[in-house]
Amino acid sequence: MSSDPLVIFTPSGKRGRFSVGTPVLTAARQLGVDLDSVCGGRGICSKCQVSPGFGEFSKHGVTVALDALSDWNAVEERYKSKRGLAEGRRLGCQAKVMGDVVIDVPPESQVHRQVVRKRAEARAIVMDPATRLYYVEVTEPDMHEPSGDFERLGKALKEQWDINGITADLEVMRKLQPTLRKGAWKVTVALHKGHDEAQHRVLDIWPGFFDGRLYGMAIDLGSTTIAAHLCDLSDGTVLASSGVMNPQIRFGEDLMSRVSYVMMNPGGDVEMTSAVRTALNGVAQAVATEASIDPRLIVETVFVCNPVMHHLLLGIDPVELGQAPFALATSGSLSFAASELDLTAIHPRARIYMLPCIAGHVGADAAAVALSEAPNKSKDLVLVVDVGTNAEILLGNETRVLACSSPTGPAFEGAQISSGQRAAPGAIERVEIDPETKEPRFKVIGSDLWSTDPGFAEAVAVTGVTGICGSGIIEAVAEMRMAGLVDAKGLIGSAEQAGTPRLVPEGRTHAYVLHDGTAEGGPLISVTQGDIRAIQLAKSALYAGARLLMDEMGVDKVDRVVLAGAFGAHISPKHAMVLGMIPDAMLGKVTSAGNAAGTGARIALLNVAARAEIEATVGQIHKVETAIEPRFQEHFVNANAIPHATDPFPELAAIVSLPHVSFNTGSGGEGGGGRRRRRG
Ligand code: FES
Repeated sequence: MSSDPLVIFTPSGKRGRFSVGTPVLTAARQLGVDLDSVCGGRGICSKCQVSPGFGEFSKHGVTVALDALSDWNAVEERYKSKRGLAEGRRLGCQAKVMGDVVIDVPPESQVHRQVVRKRAEARAIVMDPATRLYYVEVTEPDMHEPSGDFERLGKALKEQWDINGITADLEVMRKLQPTLRKGAWKVTVALHKGHDEAQHRVLDIWPGFFDGRLYGMAIDLGSTTIAAHLCDLSDGTVLASSGVMNPQIRFGEDLMSRVSYVMMNPGGDVEMTSAVRTALNGVAQAVATEASIDPRLIVETVFVCNPVMHHLLLGIDPVELGQAPFALATSGSLSFAASELDLTAIHPRARIYMLPCIAGHVGADAAAVALSEAPNKSKDLVLVVDVGTNAEILLGNETRVLACSSPTGPAFEGAQISSGQRAAPGAIERVEIDPETKEPRFKVIGSDLWSTDPGFAEAVAVTGVTGICGSGIIEAVAEMRMAGLVDAKGLIGSAEQAGTPRLVPEGRTHAYVLHDGTAEGGPLISVTQGDIRAIQLAKSALYAGARLLMDEMGVDKVDRVVLAGAFGAHISPKHAMVLGMIPDAMLGKVTSAGNAAGTGARIALLNVAARAEIEATVGQIHKVETAIEPRFQEHFVNANAIPHATDPFPELAAIVSLPHVSFNTGSGGEGGGGRRRRRG
């Protein structure tokens, strides 16, 4: 045996001896090397591509001769002429081992390849989707050994793919016989297997080899925004993303007002369920169009959302979530058919997975943030805040994780702000104010230029400057505080008090003009006293929630802070700290994570084992209820000042000195702002 050729696979380093004539794919299978195949080694799918190396490999102690693999064969030639095959590549199912050889498996041929993620994140995504394609050859029926076509399909899948047990609904059964005959007993099936299911479910069947791909959607269904990513289920690529307003906004801006709408309008829940489902069909169409794919190849969708959105999407009356003890209809994860949600735009038998909720106010969105940012795997104490209409807050490390949600309202998403808008081209997303001249400059989404740079007007000619998005308003208010235009209580000074004509009277208060586009027919974009108040309410709720978790944990300081934002928004750590949205921390220890809930949804979409993992993690997260905790109110009032009335911010003070200004003219009524926002 020892004279059999040695086969070494890279990058895994797995090696073994195989008799002459063994196909490379077979050797890979036997060694447990991650080499893809959809057609089962029939030379049709090209998923099994490998790159053999020739010559001296001193590292491995082998010399590979030019004839270490069998000759290029007709199947490979046919594939190359029809579809192309890169120079040096072989089909692993066709090339046979003839001598010692070193074989590289390129990333695109690995089943469990890692998805490239843009930033250094808590975890990599390893491809392991619940739905995959399998090409299979089924035995023809025989009168003497009667058996059903479905049973023979099951037998073929067992023999050719080692798949134990399949199930299918009636629609698939109806398609089965014509498809098998049309494909001359060769078919491709899309099989789905959830992490908690015993059998594979046949979602669809195509005659012959189906030379297409399957897709999935990861959807973060927020109170204000619906953010969707369309992913290729074979390699995890995000092919299109879409963010639209949640149409339920017309029934109430925040969660509580939507629950109230249901309480006051019998059947209101049905209206809202139908509105969001219609919007989701539109989103599916939009991402499919953007990616130029058939939306009926979207076979899976993962949802993350807060508990009220969760119930309204499912068609469950959310009234119980509006009153103590905030009971969920179900807190567990859910797997079911997309047809149950009337998602008619996607594959008719597509599957849905919804992450588990943590508690009545801490939903599947918080679970998704926990999956993405993994506080339960952190050695140091990390505070993760996901800023949306409701803030999801997690605090913890490897030993213990606490969670709460806090009713920030939609101000951080640009709503309830006089010039606010969602993050879209034309929205101001970055702001700087010169502390000497009090003059602003800004950037809008869609251009990298500052508004004072040459060429800015041309760069934004198409989109215009249309408003301020969430990250823009956070920076604007923090910059106004740093430039001495706003005092610690949140009062905007007058032109005389703060020394700039950009401060204009507005009723009994003042506003800061950020951009006056009226001469060109554009909007006048300013930050008003009402905007500052909305931001103060939002940030106080966020800070109070974080403090509550710190109290529970028995700490006054956290080691690091992760800021996760609404769709596309990246919050500036420095500005978040000047505003007092988050507890004091070293600036280098505050990072921005983008849409962590959406990332968590994507992880659960692409890796089926992550579903089991988050279900187990959620069971260990301790929930703190802000609504009934008296200290929340105290923390909320103290957090109203910018950055804070009582808590010191030593790390912030080391890098930023905030001017000691006070614009309280004694007329009263403006400095309070301690009104507690209703939960929502
Ligand atoms: Fe499909 Fe080789 S396994 S072409």
